[in-house]
Amino acid sequence: MLLLTGATGLVGSALLRRLVAEGAQVRCLVRDPRRLGAQRVRVQIALGDLTDPPSFRNALRGVRTVVHLAASIRDQPQGSIEELNGIATWRMVQAAEKAGVERFVFFSVLGASIHHRARFFRAKALAEQAVEEAGLDSIVFAPSIVYAPGDPWLTVLERLALLPVMPVSGRGRALYQPIWAEDVADCVMAALREPDGERRTEPRREADRREADRRASGHPGRYELAGPETLSHNDIVRVVLGSLNRRRPLVHVPTPIVSRSLRLLERVAGPNAFATWDEAELMEVPMVSARGAADVEGLGVEPARMAAVLGVG
Ligand SMILES: NC(=O)c1ccc[n+]([C@@H]2O[C@H](COP(=O)([O-])OP(=O)(O)OC[C@H]3O[C@@H](n4cnc5c(N)ncnc54)[C@H](OP(=O)(O)O)[C@@H]3O)[C@@H](O)[C@H]2O)c1
Repeated sequence: MLLLTGATGLVGSALLRRLVAEGAQVRCLVRDPRRLGAQRVRVQIALGDLTDPPSFRNALRGVRTVVHLAASIRDQPQGSIEELNGIATWRMVQAAEKAGVERFVFFSVLGASIHHRARFFRAKALAEQAVEEAGLDSIVFAPSIVYAPGDPWLTVLERLALLPVMPVSGRGRALYQPIWAEDVADCVMAALREPDGERRTEPRREADRREADRRASGHPGRYELAGPETLSHNDIVRVVLGSLNRRRPLVHVPTPIVSRSLRLLERVAGPNAFATWDEAELMEVPMVSARGAADVEGLGVEPARMAAVLGVG
């Protein structure tokens, strides 16, 4: 039995489709099973919440592998970013160890560090530490920005593109290697199939060299998931505008104005705010891997370019 958290999310839904198609026995820890759509009849459901540790115990019964994707880039009424991403992961790992789970797959973020300026990156760094220090076989994925057509982030950009000018928070120069959620799900499937981290598609010697590099970098089961191209925030906005066939001048809104306005909006609109400063800040911090797409390709996945996925050119 495999426990999947975050099955209703961007990566989770793509991964769940693949697991179900392969006939895997899957249990999903969800807040609202209706959000699983048609898949809810093909999986076991464990009602749970990241802020409710007793729900982890029930969900983990008889589980050998956990794929922990559930996370949040904004505060929720029941839990802060730190609780939802950091403390909840630590609790999930503890519960998994107690339940006799063999393998724990965790999604961190590219560039996670306890010294990072963004709360989300600090919380993920602590979570990653908890996973790596646990007595479980672990695999950590650290993705750059993950996207899919119609996802909440691209939807915000599409709505902004209705304005006569395209507002961009800050200077828009931070760099990313966006990766399509479908490619991310393929990477997870490949890593689950090859628990020892060996590669199928590479010549043996090359696979050995990469494995040695990764061991030297600290954690052998850590994959940086980066797409095939390095794009600035400005470039990404231009790709999205291109996919909508809209020409708009980019207007850079100074960061202090964005942060003050979004904090005010959050105070007024609460959890329903269309964007928060914690989310907008993520587009000001680079998320690039020095290895580029090597880890993705090493898993046998040829990552798609963002423009191709969004149907530009
Ligand atoms: N997307 C990116 O650009 C990106 C970049 C780097 C790392 N990551 C990491 O990659 C993983 C997958 O990301 P994603 O983009 O697929 O995430 P996502 O689309 O935002 O989905 C988040 C998932 O977490 C669940 N969740 C949120 N709060 C919860 C709570 N309190 N209790 C239980 N479940 C809760 C959501 O369930 P509901 O349906 O109930 O809301 C949803 O299934 C995450 O760990 C994320 O931090 C993502």
